[in-house]
Amino acid sequence: MYEILRNEKLAEDTHLMEIGAPMVAERIKPGNFVILRISEKGERIPMSVFDFDRNKGVLTIVFKVVGKTTKDLSSLKEGDSIMNFVGPLGNPTEIEKFGTVVCIGGGIGIPPIYPIAREMRKAGNKVISIIGARRKYLLILEDEIKSVSDELHVTTDDGSYGHKGFVSDVLNMIIREGRKIDRVIAVGPLVMMKAVCDVTKPHGIKTIVSLNPIMVDGTGMCGCCRVTVGGETKFVCVDGPEFDGHEVDFDNLILRNNRFLEEEEKAKGGCYGSEKEKA
Ligand SMILES: Cc1cc2nc3c(=O)[nH]c(=O)nc-3n(C[C@H](O)[C@H](O)[C@H](O)COP(=O)(O)OP(=O)(O)OC[C@H]3O[C@@H](n4cnc5c(N)ncnc54)[C@H](O)[C@@H]3O)c2cc1C
Ligand code: FES
Repeated sequence: MYEILRNEKLAEDTHLMEIGAPMVAERIKPGNFVILRISEKGERIPMSVFDFDRNKGVLTIVFKVVGKTTKDLSSLKEGDSIMNFVGPLGNPTEIEKFGTVVCIGGGIGIPPIYPIAREMRKAGNKVISIIGARRKYLLILEDEIKSVSDELHVTTDDGSYGHKGFVSDVLNMIIREGRKIDRVIAVGPLVMMKAVCDVTKPHGIKTIVSLNPIMVDGTGMCGCCRVTVGGETKFVCVDGPEFDGHEVDFDNLILRNNRFLEEEEKAKGGCYGSEKEKA
């Protein structure tokens, strides 16, 4: 059993949770993910790592309540436990000195950007971070991202805070100013990562994206997380989750990710508004 050490609400429907998991914390690296299961009958859900403390054996995740399992997770209190916690899974982010690295996080893609930006900076890169949310009250972890960046830009879709528009608009602006960018890393909704790739591709800027397809086993056995990259089938859980964004077939992945919408709505049992309803 894995003990919940902290459960803090960061924004509407978004929680930061510290979990005691010494063996996972010891080996986890930025870019890895874990798969957790709350109880015997529960569903397995993948989660990225926000932070870890190897000495204390603690791993921190940040999650958005979008359906049944994340709702159940959000209701757990300090001292409660979850049954399974498997990781590290996937390949860690390639960290080396590239020069200037732009780290982009959209919505719930902001937390996984934090350890990546931190390690990129430690490796001697200049880190420009761009984070975005639909509205100001949904924006999370601004101070944390700022603390690991040389430069931070914030966007909101509706202009309620920071630049009005999308993270890809700010990236476009930075590129058009003629600044040299050596690598871009983007984590967030598929449409956002696709937009970022559309901006960088004409300039030949290497762009890494972290994909978030539906996953079941997380070990390369079920084939559920398959995606087409450079014309080849890849399994995100073992071959990724990070890929060269210019090679990813986003349109196909977006279609595949929407295929359980009806079942997910039923599982919510009407207790949740959908993203559309909340917007
Ligand atoms: C590698 C990876 C890392 C992730 N990291 C985070 C994170 O750090 N924070 C966070 O809030 N969310 C993260 N997710 C998404 C998270 O796994 C889903 O929000 C969660 O599984 C939803 O479960 P649910 O029962 O609450 O919602 P459901 O009602 O079952 O589903 C709601 C939506 O969540 C997604 N989803 C559902 N089941 C899965 C599944 N088995 N695998 C992937 N996506 C699913 C789908 O887009 C679906 O439309 C990550 C997903 C992947 C693949
Ligand atoms: S989740 Fe089953 S192959 Fe990746």
